[in-house]
Amino acid sequence: MASATVELRQLGETSLQVSLLGLGLAAVGRPGYINLGREDDLPGARQPEDLYARCAELLEAARGLGIRYVDVARSYGRAEEFLARWLDRRGDRGEITVGSKWGYRYTADWQVEAEVHEQKELSRARFAEQLDESAATLGEPIDLYQIHSATMESGALEDDALIESMLQARAAGRVRRLGLTVTGPRSAETLNRAMDLERNGERVFDAVQATCNVLEHSILGQLRRARGAGFGVIVKEVHANGRLTPANQRREDRGVVKRLGNLAAERELSVDQLAIAFVASHDCVDVINSGAATVEQLESHARGAAVRLDADSIAALSCFAELPEVYWSKRSQLPWS
Ligand SMILES: NC(=O)c1ccc[n+]([C@@H]2O[C@H](COP(=O)([O-])OP(=O)(O)OC[C@H]3O[C@@H](n4cnc5c(N)ncnc54)[C@H](OP(=O)(O)O)[C@@H]3O)[C@@H](O)[C@H]2O)c1
Repeated sequence: MASATVELRQLGETSLQVSLLGLGLAAVGRPGYINLGREDDLPGARQPEDLYARCAELLEAARGLGIRYVDVARSYGRAEEFLARWLDRRGDRGEITVGSKWGYRYTADWQVEAEVHEQKELSRARFAEQLDESAATLGEPIDLYQIHSATMESGALEDDALIESMLQARAAGRVRRLGLTVTGPRSAETLNRAMDLERNGERVFDAVQATCNVLEHSILGQLRRARGAGFGVIVKEVHANGRLTPANQRREDRGVVKRLGNLAAERELSVDQLAIAFVASHDCVDVINSGAATVEQLESHARGAAVRLDADSIAALSCFAELPEVYWSKRSQLPWS
């Protein structure tokens, strides 16, 4: 089957040009990550130059597929640096919309089996420090700068000094747009609070990035409201960190993978393509971040992003949802590899 070219979109009401499929570099900017089947997809050595080569290969393939949004973070090892290096080599920075994130510091020292992979701090001081670091690496303005994993408990959305600093960064043109990513069973509540946040009649956030997949889509109603209010909507973890892919050999997921495999085969799709098609079939979604670790996976994801499912198929897939608490508890037990 030939590779599909992905659809172009505008990110919510921002003027940022994106594509329905984006490329996230979380899995390839550092040697260790939370995925299943990783040892088959990445070179054993995983030295910085090995991973730069893999990032460049993925970015090149992404460009060819029409992908225009790339997602990185301060904590994705050297992902920002790898992306900047590739963009410099291509010499056409304007063509790709870049989203980065602040809040976590990478602490694994290039080890897969580190005790602590990332250290989180959603403070004003961390924002100022990491904005300088991101800007020094990616250049200014950064298209989209997101709070990394805001939660109700983090207090970030109640921190006036932090909000003020973020707004100043946008007003000064250091970042074009402000976003937040949400995580955990209370993601919809966090997004609701973020949507209400205004200063001097101006909305603080322009975009949200949230987990949405066949197993956990409890946030869809809130994403629709956010999109209706003009927010850009980016989806992450569309494959439930590898659980919705052929790489999933977990005994407890066997039944789900088999049933999804049957539904996929009836539509001449693979499980990973069906998982993407499910999310792509919801109009409120502007970007789905592919977490591909190989070009083959990325090409497969592009084919999934070109498929729109009918209402019966969406209803059938919606039944696979786990209780959010159950999903997030399983998510927290997935190992780094
Ligand atoms: N809080 C946040 O802001 C946040 C959190 C998570 C993710 N994100 C963003 O979203 C992006 C995607 O999320 P994610 O990578 O964490 O989760 P994901 O997209 O649910 O899972 C991606 C993993 O699934 C596996 N996979 C995908 N297609 C496959 C196929 N055809 N065959 C076999 N395995 C396949 C790969 O793992 P293997 O390499 O092990 O095969 C891949 O690394 C990230 O890169 C990042 O940019 C943001």
